[in-house]
Amino acid sequence: MCLYHHCVFPYLLDLAMGSRVFDKPRRRTLARASGRILEIGFGTGRNLPHYPPGVSRIEAIDPDTDLDRFSLPRIATSRVAVDFHHLNAEHLPFAGDSFDSVVCTLTLCSIPDVVHALGEIHRVLKPGGQFLFLEHGLSPDARVARWQHRLNPIQNRLGGGCHLIRGDGAAGRRIRPASAGCRTLLPAARAQIRRLHDGRVRVEVLSACCCRKKTH
Ligand SMILES: C[S@@+](CC[C@H](N)C(=O)[O-])C[C@H]1O[C@@H](n2cnc3c(N)ncnc32)[C@H](O)[C@@H]1O
Repeated sequence: MCLYHHCVFPYLLDLAMGSRVFDKPRRRTLARASGRILEIGFGTGRNLPHYPPGVSRIEAIDPDTDLDRFSLPRIATSRVAVDFHHLNAEHLPFAGDSFDSVVCTLTLCSIPDVVHALGEIHRVLKPGGQFLFLEHGLSPDARVARWQHRLNPIQNRLGGGCHLIRGDGAAGRRIRPASAGCRTLLPAARAQIRRLHDGRVRVEVLSACCCRKKTH
């Protein structure tokens, strides 16, 4: 399994994340990114070409050093300058109220303690700052959802900890990706949640949202 995670998984991840089906949802999610930006779960750097022209620098974190062989060359040739750190989203070393935008694509599904991570994202966002996220989640189609449940243990082992069924069960309801900001991160800010994109990738549902941190 170790060999798989160190040598095979990074290639599979880069291949999957490079799929053109994600281009439009990535662009929609990142279109609003502005000011001081933090990207959570940078992966192999597949968001870089999709930042809007006004963005010239971001900070980015990802704990997986095995992805460096893909991410570092992309950083080196990117129009957007990247200050990259190997870090977990659950423990961010940044000051509170310090980012205008936090970006997170296809990553909330993989973060072990996602509720804690969302709390950290909330902490580092400036009041009025925006959390832009793109996630897949449990399908509303019962037949698809049943298959997601069946395949979840395999996906979890082979897919770097990715959950196909986040959004299920009591704890899941608090972190249903498409409404994570609304229910967990910014409970009092429902009116400020904007859906940016709803779609499907094969059978999985995909949603992009923007949540604003309440101004005091
Ligand atoms: C499916 S990949 C998505 C990568 C990238 N965001 C993209 O859209 O191409 C999930 C990423 O989450 C990262 N990840 C896993 N646990 C994490 C954590 N605790 N904090 C931050 N990122 C994490 C993984 O290393 C991986 O790069």
